[in-house]
Amino acid sequence: MIPGPVPLSDSAAEALAAPVQAHYGPAWVSVHDETLGLLRQVFAAEGDILLLVGSGSAGLDAAIGSLLAPGETALVGVNGYFGKRLAAIARAHGADVVEVTAEWGEPLATEAFESAVRQHPEAKAIVATHVETSTGVVNPVHDIARLANAQGVPVMADAISSLGGVEFAMEAWGVDLCVSASQKCLGGPAGLAPVAVGPRAWAAIEKRLAAAPGPGWYLNLQTWREFAQSQKEWHPFPVTMPTHAVLSLRAGLRALLAEGLPNRLRRYRTLAARLRAGLQELGFQPLAADACAAPVVTAARSLPGIPSGRVVEFLERAHGLKIAGGLGPLQHTVFRVGHMAPSVGERDIDDVLAALEDFKHQAAIGKEAV
Ligand SMILES: Cc1ncc(COP(=O)(O)O)c(C=O)c1O
Repeated sequence: MIPGPVPLSDSAAEALAAPVQAHYGPAWVSVHDETLGLLRQVFAAEGDILLLVGSGSAGLDAAIGSLLAPGETALVGVNGYFGKRLAAIARAHGADVVEVTAEWGEPLATEAFESAVRQHPEAKAIVATHVETSTGVVNPVHDIARLANAQGVPVMADAISSLGGVEFAMEAWGVDLCVSASQKCLGGPAGLAPVAVGPRAWAAIEKRLAAAPGPGWYLNLQTWREFAQSQKEWHPFPVTMPTHAVLSLRAGLRALLAEGLPNRLRRYRTLAARLRAGLQELGFQPLAADACAAPVVTAARSLPGIPSGRVVEFLERAHGLKIAGGLGPLQHTVFRVGHMAPSVGERDIDDVLAALEDFKHQAAIGKEAV
């Protein structure tokens, strides 16, 4: 019950044990293309999908570095650990980062981006997390994208912990560039970063490349696009693909679409509501308000005076349940429960709640107090 990587379904696990196969030629290209087709349905976008080899951060690094030339201004939403990561990546590429902040636990405000765009008409990109995994908050990416579109600024979303688990419609929402990762709601193993690139993002990337040499070669979206186009039938990517990881991700995606994306999203929402209600009843206050609570990860405050690490440690030791601790400034006050695994059910939620109730009881009788 951590916010990724998720346990693999049987079919996703079996794919990892399949015999090694060549990562080029018609048989492999058909697997690869099917995987991209499934991803296209989950992104809800008709444009290009590039399946980068690396963790989600590789996709973020490539997307941000390809979009922004050194010295260009980026408006980056920061309301948690992963928003900070986006800002750090943009700075590492030499961008002039303007942080558009909100309190950790609150969603980003579209109005704050509106005023940032007014103050920085030179901005070349707006970047934000969809689900801020450190706080369990869903950011209003739809509204931020609408604003960005109206201002003619390309908008990029980090949907690493949300794609396949939270409502998202890249094209209908006007998101230009979106990065995800294989190991969370998509139900695959770690190691692949699907990146969806719309036409406005390509236009911005081309402009950026004309202005300054690209961000290296590997983590450069133009490199992946060139191979996708020029080696379409044989080797539509620039590197050796981890074929097992792709097959396993494909199994995860097939299962997601067989269940039906709307059904999967509804299931997660119901489970999240069950968890939040139980946490509140026990006195572990969820960090995010109902209106912005993520259906796939919940951050909750520990009991007064008890470091959240104690809760995490107790659940593992006494109940064999792995949840996650807080990140950054929330490290000692918050714990996080991931409910983004395709297999997660009411029983898992109830097990966590029962274990937390036990912790509370032990704390009350002094056995787990500080
Ligand atoms: C929103 C978000 N962004 C970025 C990352 C980093 O992804 P990775 O660890 O796959 O590089 C994570 C990982 O949890 C995340 O949740």
